Amino acid sequence: MQAERVDLQFPLPTELPGWMHSGTFTGYQAASGFLRELLDELGLSGASGPGHVVLGDLVFTVNRAKPAGWAQNTWLDARLIPAPSIGQAAKALKDMQRNWWVHPVRLARRSALVTEKLPKVSARPQVFGEPAPTAPLGAWTLWNEGWLIASPACTSPYPDGLPQFVEDRESAPSRAYLKLWETFTLVGVAPKPGELCLDLGSSPGGWTWVLASLGARVFSVDKAPLDPRIGAMRNVDHCLGSGFGLDPAIAATPEKPVDWLFSDMACYPERLLTLIQRWLDAGACRNFVCTLKFQAETDHETARAFAAISGSRLLHLAHNKHELTWILLR
Ligand SMILES: C[S@@+](CC[C@H](N)C(=O)[O-])C[C@H]1O[C@@H](n2cnc3c(N)ncnc32)[C@H](O)[C@@H]1O
Repeated sequence: MQAERVDLQFPLPTELPGWMHSGTFTGYQAASGFLRELLDELGLSGASGPGHVVLGDLVFTVNRAKPAGWAQNTWLDARLIPAPSIGQAAKALKDMQRNWWVHPVRLARRSALVTEKLPKVSARPQVFGEPAPTAPLGAWTLWNEGWLIASPACTSPYPDGLPQFVEDRESAPSRAYLKLWETFTLVGVAPKPGELCLDLGSSPGGWTWVLASLGARVFSVDKAPLDPRIGAMRNVDHCLGSGFGLDPAIAATPEKPVDWLFSDMACYPERLLTLIQRWLDAGACRNFVCTLKFQAETDHETARAFAAISGSRLLHLAHNKHELTWILLR
């Protein structure tokens, strides 16, 4: 178990930066407990600078949005809106679009009163297999009693960027399966029946259970055994050993690549990068989903190297801890 992280806390800013008055800007909502990581990733230091300001766990910048793995949600089109009363705040939001989610940092009571005047937005847990919502969900926060910041467009269609699922506490041997459910829901693609999946670092078997339940053929590798119920699934083969010992040139060929490589191995991200490079260079696999697990220090350099792999995405899932998930689909 990882200890709950205590996040950075800066004093709340009082002065509205001038650039907020002169057009749209970007807001990044830090993944819970990872404001330091987000600021480092964005190349920003401290609570405010010439083109940025931090409000709680929100980082606003004058620059256009860029991909940020440590942002749970990015406000792509943030703007400052006069909100001298609760009614006027609600009207300004409703005039823009129907669906809004508040991210209160200050003035929680006033935020709740504005929310009461807005159409209801459901945040119910979804059943795995349902598609991600397609309706735009805007995000807003009160800056003070006279102004709010709102963005009608965000990177995530979920409240605060946090999808929730109706959990299966019976079948899955660990809660790690939620990371795969979330990944497949966000990207809208999952292994098809009969596709070959390698699951490296698979024990006790949450990911293997998800993949085998989808009808994929799973070759599962871990130094530790699988939960016997998962190992007994019809389309699962398990090998006791290291995921680093599997030679891509022997496991597959460019003509007959593995369909998916999954890694949730507890290992240094740098070592995982070397492994993934070998698989990419050999043209031995089409799709990848890998967890980068950081130790006490976040290895930003390796995270950047993963993010730089053409066509890939690096993101913090709601179900990630001090981790990022790297996804490459082809
Ligand atoms: C977080 S657990 C994986 C949970 C799994 N995805 C699930 O859904 O149940 C990390 C696993 O990585 C495994 N591991 C660490 N180093 C490994 C290696 N070199 N090769 C294979 N597995 C490794 C550990 O034994 C451990 O079972």
